Amino acid sequence: MFKKLAISAVAALTLSAGGAMAAGAAGHVEDVDFSFEGPFGTFDQNQLQRGLKVYTQVCAACHGMQYVPFRTLSDEGGPQLPADQMRAYAAQYEVYDAEIDDFRAALPTDHFPMSALENAPDLSMMAKARAGFHGPYGTGMAQLFKGMGGPEYIYSLLTGYTGETKEEAGTTLYENKAFPGGWIAMAPPLYGEDVEFDDGHINTIESQSEDVSAFLMWAAEPKMMARKQAGLTGVIFLTVLTVLLYLTNKRIWAPIKRKDVA
Ligand code: HEC
Repeated sequence: MFKKLAISAVAALTLSAGGAMAAGAAGHVEDVDFSFEGPFGTFDQNQLQRGLKVYTQVCAACHGMQYVPFRTLSDEGGPQLPADQMRAYAAQYEVYDAEIDDFRAALPTDHFPMSALENAPDLSMMAKARAGFHGPYGTGMAQLFKGMGGPEYIYSLLTGYTGETKEEAGTTLYENKAFPGGWIAMAPPLYGEDVEFDDGHINTIESQSEDVSAFLMWAAEPKMMARKQAGLTGVIFLTVLTVLLYLTNKRIWAPIKRKDVA
């Protein structure tokens, strides 16, 4: 009996050690206080506009966002570019139009292009495709209160380079603390002061990484604000309904209950 217990204790220990190792290999993800976290959180419009600029001037050289239509850049709850700016932004891109069998400037209804570099993944859904944290102890509490952590993961990836490189099968790999496995084929895209903002906002590597991560969260979930609003309205409605039903129930049963007591 005791032996059996001891064996299972050892098994549990080895299992948890394995778990700890797996967590290590999964990479280190920093917690970032994004404005859109929690049930009342909202996107910061200025931050989304800065993030769009970082994406456009740095990431778009390799990564596409083929599921995001340009027109959504003007939508409420997003970067909310004025319509003329959004149209001008779209027009910087060229798209192939099958109807005229030629390339033309992109229109608001067109989408961002596909990735320019073959092995660079599309970033439209990236913020939702990566989970940042599961903890504490895999309970998912952090995910409940802070969201999935996809933007935290992207932030940690962009700021997680150690500066070490190695060659493998003819490609250069860069050591990164956040990337699962520790070595990524993406060269550090940001060094700080990569993008100048019109309002002179700081452009350290950390703040640019935060801005582009927030922007990619919006790209992956453009209706987040509307979703939270609807959820909140639902909760308020149900709370009022609960109170009314409670009072109605009391009133209906009042005569009968009074008889019981007497
Ligand atoms: C020079 C080309 C290049 C640029 C510029 C670039 N990337 Fe990448 N990126 C890559 C490549 C290649 C990969 C695939 C790396 C791999 O799987 O090892 C990648 C992968 C990624 C991933 C996925 C990591 C994962 O978990 O699989 C994210 C997120 C990412 N890049 C974000 C960005 C952001 C944000 C920017 C702009 C700040 C950016 N990248 C700029 C080439 C680039």
